[in-house]
Amino acid sequence: MRLILLGPPGAGKGTQASGIIEKYNVPHISTGDIFRKNIKEGTDLGKKAKEYMDKGLLVPDEVVVAIVKDRLTEDDCKKGFLLDGFPRTVAQADALDGELKALDYSLDYVLNIEVDKDILIERAVGRRICKNCGATYHIKYNPPKTENVCDECGGELYQRDDDTEETVSKRIEVYLKQTKPLIEYYNDKNLLVDINGEQDIDKVFEDIVNILGSDS
Ligand code: AP5
Ligand code: MG
Ligand code: ZN
Repeated sequence: MRLILLGPPGAGKGTQASGIIEKYNVPHISTGDIFRKNIKEGTDLGKKAKEYMDKGLLVPDEVVVAIVKDRLTEDDCKKGFLLDGFPRTVAQADALDGELKALDYSLDYVLNIEVDKDILIERAVGRRICKNCGATYHIKYNPPKTENVCDECGGELYQRDDDTEETVSKRIEVYLKQTKPLIEYYNDKNLLVDINGEQDIDKVFEDIVNILGSDS
């Protein structure tokens, strides 16, 4: 299964990704997670990415494209992959297209998770992430059993630096301008499937499985 998860900030891409990779046994390639890991480790890439991420802007195409190209040539991608948050511009999509052709891979679906703007801000601002294992929670919609403690590993929860109301609004603006055109891009390639992301987390997942099929 070769998939792209498309959707605005806070739509639920990461949340649905965790269920999809488990069910379909494919690696999760989240460019946002790769950048956050590099920030945590203090690498040059992390320092560069942070300048853009803190402002809600996109990291330059050539930086992101090089990372994803590299990642796709790794062995585990032979069984498929789930791209989360990439591509985010038409230039990135074109570069991905070229790389997939070179590797003789074709995409199965581009899942477009649709959520209204007002809901997105509330979701992102209420998001909490485990410092240790990366599990994602929401203070209202998906709270941990004990406040600020991860159900999975007991780790402490934190809030992303770019999850302030101001930065989320900027990220939505950037999404509308630079990423939304990809809906038409993939629709023209007959790969796009719209998913109603305003339902409960489990119902969204059910809809996705109905599209992908239950063969894991
Ligand atoms: P990235 O980390 O990809 O952030 P994003 O696209 O803004 O998306 P989010 O991770 O914020 O949201 P999500 O859709 O994963 O939602 P989640 O499942 O967590 O990118 C961050 C930054 O990195 C970018 O701004 C950019 O600077 C840079 N970057 C990354 N990729 C790049 C690229 N390709 N090119 C250039 N720059 C790039 O859910 C959100 C919250 O809602 C959670 O609390 C969750 O519990 C809750 N929730 C989820 N689903 C539901 C539901 N159905 N009902 C109720 N609550 C829900
Ligand atoms: Mg995410
Ligand atoms: Zn954890």
